[in-house]
Amino acid sequence: MTSSIFYGGDYNPEQWEPAVWREDIWLMREAGVNLVTVGVFSWAHLEPTESNFDFGWLRQVLDLLGEAGIGVDLATPTAAPPPWLTTRYPDALPVDQRGARYSHGSRQHFCVCSPSYRRLASAIVQRLADEVGDHQAIRMWHAHNEYACHVPYCYCDHHAVQFRSWLQRRYGTVDALNNAWGTSFWSQRFSDFGEVTPPRMTPTLPNPGQLLDYHRFSSDAFLEEFQQEKEVLKRARPDVPLTTNFMGFHKALDYFAWAREMDLVSTDNYPDPADPDSTALSAMHYDLVRSLNKSAPWIVMEQTTSRVNWREHNLPKAPGQMRALSYQALARGATGVLFFQWRASRAGAEKFHSALLSHAGTASPIWDEVVTLGKELTAAEPWAGSRVRASTAMIFSWPNWWAIESPSSPAHDLRMLDQLAWMYLPLYHRSATVDFAHPAEPLGSYDALLIPSLYLVTEEEAANIVSRVETGGTAILSYWSGIVDQHDQVYLGPYGGPLRPLIGCDVLDVAPLAAGDTVEVEWADGTRTTAGFWLDLTAERDGEVLARIASGPWAGSPAVVLTRYGTGSAYYLGTRLDGEGMRRIYDAVPALRGAVSPAGPDGESVERVVRSSPRHDFEFLINHADSDRKVTLAGPGYDVLSGQRTDGAMTLGRRGVAIVRHERSARPAAGERDAPAGGSQG
Ligand code: GAL
Repeated sequence: MTSSIFYGGDYNPEQWEPAVWREDIWLMREAGVNLVTVGVFSWAHLEPTESNFDFGWLRQVLDLLGEAGIGVDLATPTAAPPPWLTTRYPDALPVDQRGARYSHGSRQHFCVCSPSYRRLASAIVQRLADEVGDHQAIRMWHAHNEYACHVPYCYCDHHAVQFRSWLQRRYGTVDALNNAWGTSFWSQRFSDFGEVTPPRMTPTLPNPGQLLDYHRFSSDAFLEEFQQEKEVLKRARPDVPLTTNFMGFHKALDYFAWAREMDLVSTDNYPDPADPDSTALSAMHYDLVRSLNKSAPWIVMEQTTSRVNWREHNLPKAPGQMRALSYQALARGATGVLFFQWRASRAGAEKFHSALLSHAGTASPIWDEVVTLGKELTAAEPWAGSRVRASTAMIFSWPNWWAIESPSSPAHDLRMLDQLAWMYLPLYHRSATVDFAHPAEPLGSYDALLIPSLYLVTEEEAANIVSRVETGGTAILSYWSGIVDQHDQVYLGPYGGPLRPLIGCDVLDVAPLAAGDTVEVEWADGTRTTAGFWLDLTAERDGEVLARIASGPWAGSPAVVLTRYGTGSAYYLGTRLDGEGMRRIYDAVPALRGAVSPAGPDGESVERVVRSSPRHDFEFLINHADSDRKVTLAGPGYDVLSGQRTDGAMTLGRRGVAIVRHERSARPAAGERDAPAGGSQG
């Protein structure tokens, strides 16, 4: 396995004549491509009719790639069942909440609980493993494609049956289920598991417990199908690392649970160039993916060289931006960057989606950028095994996301991703590196915990967080936290439940603010900032009030309260503070001070992330701005990209990148080793 960085993309040779394949491979070599994902949507070509298989073309493609030294990430084709399958087994098509069945004609038109789908998916995966599993070009297994992307939930009768068994395993008795879902409300009490349905269309608000469990169940149902594929692939080639491509903050799947099953975590990321925050949000996406399985490497499985074609109006990436954003992923620890797709299609729904090789071929300006990046990555050896270390973690869980956005919330516009971005973005702009952490995972290595609206928290999760503060950590905990247990049932008393030790005041009620409304916040030194969106209505208790609401009907109510707990401390934010308010908080916490890099005229900052190996720190500097930027470095060093020594400062051209190597003065701590590069684990 290579010790450099993976570079390449989805390769769909079945869309082209064999004569084109040879040109593809020749150009892949020119571009420095070393890994291509093959077979993602090839079911109809591999099994043109039921049980009639054709693997000849695939073997030929694998041979050509293998001879050229290009590795293959071999995908199972199960995300797009062929027309014969859905014609013969219509129950394999998913059903929406109103009971309407989806039709063939696109992709992801399958019901993951359908026995026919499961049987036929298993058969094609087995056949793939039998026919070509021993091919020497294979470097990686890629199960399915973007599980739960277009049809995250199916409401058919197969799902109803499986949901009932899942509930029976979870609760044991129907009484336990009734208690968990609070079915005494609106006469919803069940007398038998057979009466339970998926949360299909209802006249008004559905039962929140049922909804929450349907999220859990659906994530598990897809995971079960993944595990079925994994078992077959690993049996065939246990030495080949296996992944499936995630989609960062994808609500339908609990990726913390999924990532445990991966040898290598991978993600698809399509930031929208029209969104001014897209660069920072893309960084947040990568920090999440890096954190999902802290002992596995991760890669970008898909991004685009320029435009996508599935948004309303698709802006291209600016010249240089593809390279800069690729380095963003690498800076944040990725061991590879791949794209959708190698060659732009002539036909089909995505023919106007950019690719490494455009319709204009090598004459397209993107080709030069592709080749330049490929050359640079071929020489990435010095930093390829280094890793990112963060002393701050943002606490995040999928069950919390599912529950907090329930239609029974007092504010339907409270979006989990907005909550995360509110705390994350200012840290991105001050180059403070943040991991994500599940509330139940060990938190001992983090000095600071960011806890945006942890509405659903179990007693065990809360104890884990509280104990990190007790032993010296600093928590920054926002409003609407500690409200419900794992069943979405309220912890009674002032809000906060088992997180109350970190909330130094009594939260007596909540007041979502009208859209666009703000209130003034007055700090102990008399300074005023603003806040919006939401107020927790609080009464003083034993914490130190750092700031109060200073306008409107709730003026005087504590808004920011500091609590000392054990040897640590917790800042409770009862409202959505503005940027200046957050700056005051972050400045007070050493782990969050970062290295502030002032934004350029276009609002973009120079992104700075450090990857470390036992001997070196690699300071990645990425200028996302459209103009030159002068940056101050951590000290003198050597830019491995330009091959130049640098003193303590340098100027980066627009969308320019530097990787400045610094000697590490301290000896590596015990157990500190370079991470496996290029997915060499597994
Ligand atoms: C991804 C998908 C690819 C391609 C790409 C286009 O979601 O996995 O197959 O459709 O989007 O942006």
